[in-house]
Amino acid sequence: MPTAPEILWPPCPVPPRLSVGEAHGWCAALDRVGGELADLLGSLSDDERTRAQRLHFPVNRRRYAVARSLLREILACYLGVRPVDLRFAYGPNGKPELREPGAGRDLQFNLSHSGALALFALAWRRPVGVDLEEIRPIENIDTIAARYFVPAEAELLQQIEPGRRCETFYQLWTQHEARVKARGTHLDDTLPASSDSRRPWAGSGQPFAEQAWHVILLQPAVGYAAAVAFAEGDPRLHVYEWVPKTAP
Ligand SMILES: CC(C)(COP(=O)(O)OP(=O)(O)OC[C@H]1O[C@@H](n2cnc3c(N)ncnc32)[C@H](O)[C@@H]1OP(=O)(O)O)[C@@H](O)C(=O)NCCC(=O)NCCS
Repeated sequence: MPTAPEILWPPCPVPPRLSVGEAHGWCAALDRVGGELADLLGSLSDDERTRAQRLHFPVNRRRYAVARSLLREILACYLGVRPVDLRFAYGPNGKPELREPGAGRDLQFNLSHSGALALFALAWRRPVGVDLEEIRPIENIDTIAARYFVPAEAELLQQIEPGRRCETFYQLWTQHEARVKARGTHLDDTLPASSDSRRPWAGSGQPFAEQAWHVILLQPAVGYAAAVAFAEGDPRLHVYEWVPKTAP
């Protein structure tokens, strides 16, 4: 297996206190988590196990199981409960949320995984969305940009020097996805207004990126682009590397 990417954020063994005006971001290297796949799967719920088992490639199955067990590990630290006791519910488009009594309901979170990394974001009572993408060459950048980005963004992309276009594409892409995920909708909601008047920025004449969202572009590791979006307010974001308790 290739070497795990080096995470550029400081490690933090125990989550610091999360105040209402703050948000926390955690990046974890999925291949640094040891242990048997069977044990990882055993720590998940039936539906998580079923989803893992549907994944065809063993590397993806393991990374999915690791990401979900880390999600449980992280949330459990904030809530002072056992990871295995956490229960999730899913919104109409698949956004997970905690089905916990008391304060647990108020802890909003989102996760994204790409390549060998996972990214988690958390905030109290504030919808949050996060997207992480491993930067890989894309042949049809202009076609995708024309479909998913507003004209100003697609034009901006064309003006970027060739060596930086791919990275810029992913920076725009992750911002869109992070906003979509904060809303708990799906990517089609950002299609250009001309194709469907239900689009969120239809008729505004503004790039989706300029609307009332607080979006922060992140770089957790070289070769990755990421963004986090908050649907309400402007929290102070602190980012860390999550050092898994199950690391070898
Ligand atoms: C969920 C979605 C918004 C993003 O999916 P993605 O980028 O493939 O995957 P990510 O790793 O960023 O996010 C997946 C996680 O988001 C969460 N999630 C799922 N649906 C969600 C939704 N509607 N809103 C917010 N979060 C969601 C889940 O926790 C999921 O993790 P899981 O696999 O552990 O269950 C998806 O609906 C989507 O639109 N995907 C399109 C992706 C695409 O076309 N990419 C092309 C890149 S060029």
